[in-house]
Amino acid sequence: MKIVVIGGTGLIGSKLVEKLRKDGHEPLAASPDSGVNALTGEGLAGALEGAQVVVDVANAPAWDDAAVLDFFQTASRNLLAAETAAGVGHHVTLSVVGTDRLPESGYFRAKVAQEELVKAGPLPYTIVRATQFFEFIGRIADSSTEGDTVRLSPALVQPEAADDVASTLADVAVGAPLNDTVELAGPEAFRLDELARRVLKESNDPREVTADVHARYFGAELDDRSLTPGDDARIAPTRFEDWFSQSVK
Ligand SMILES: NC(=O)c1ccc[n+]([C@@H]2O[C@H](COP(=O)([O-])OP(=O)(O)OC[C@H]3O[C@@H](n4cnc5c(N)ncnc54)[C@H](OP(=O)(O)O)[C@@H]3O)[C@@H](O)[C@H]2O)c1
Repeated sequence: MKIVVIGGTGLIGSKLVEKLRKDGHEPLAASPDSGVNALTGEGLAGALEGAQVVVDVANAPAWDDAAVLDFFQTASRNLLAAETAAGVGHHVTLSVVGTDRLPESGYFRAKVAQEELVKAGPLPYTIVRATQFFEFIGRIADSSTEGDTVRLSPALVQPEAADDVASTLADVAVGAPLNDTVELAGPEAFRLDELARRVLKESNDPREVTADVHARYFGAELDDRSLTPGDDARIAPTRFEDWFSQSVK
């Protein structure tokens, strides 16, 4: 089956392409570097020729409110139009658990806009909402750093390994469209500040992590329900401890 992965060179995209290839499918990794640009439409028609499924795991290069909204809206419109013209039968989008609970954040408003276009669009779809990737904890700390201090909310998070996200997407991509949203989360919950403190400490990073209930997460204040999944979420197998011992040390 030909499956086009938009953002196929990124963290999730490259793992997904590898898994699909191993499973005997014909994945095409599409990104600006390979001449396929979802924002301008360049190269889309050619890339989608003969494709049955498109998985959109692209991410915006700039996250200021206007740029990120424009990215997800324009790219989604271009993709849905090109996929319709090419006769694609299933559009899969990767989104974030809690997206609709964080309207103070420009990034999450843009993800809601992306989801809405997919739901209202002409194609059968599946939206996979994932929690934070273990690999993303360092970037969360970076985004909340002032001087040598990282101010983070102590809200609960239930993160997962990027590998597990890619496996779920590979599964969803070859299944029937659900025309619905599914959630994916890791096997354990943590306090965000504690997890970041641990990652920095074990990476010999000298920054101090301070818990602050008002610290903003990409523009939004968090509580224990903001980023955690509902009861029906699929649970990814890899525990943080096992991932961490293999990745960071
Ligand atoms: N970070 C998290 O914890 C988290 C949690 C849940 C869901 N998500 C979602 O997961 C998705 C993927 O995240 P990621 O961390 O894997 O992203 P990433 O590593 O930053 O990769 C982004 C990909 O998007 C591509 N891209 C950028 N501009 C493009 C364009 N105009 N047209 C086509 N492709 C373009 C990039 O291509 P180049 O390499 O050529 O630039 C790259 O392949 C995002 O939608 C994000 O919202 C993230």
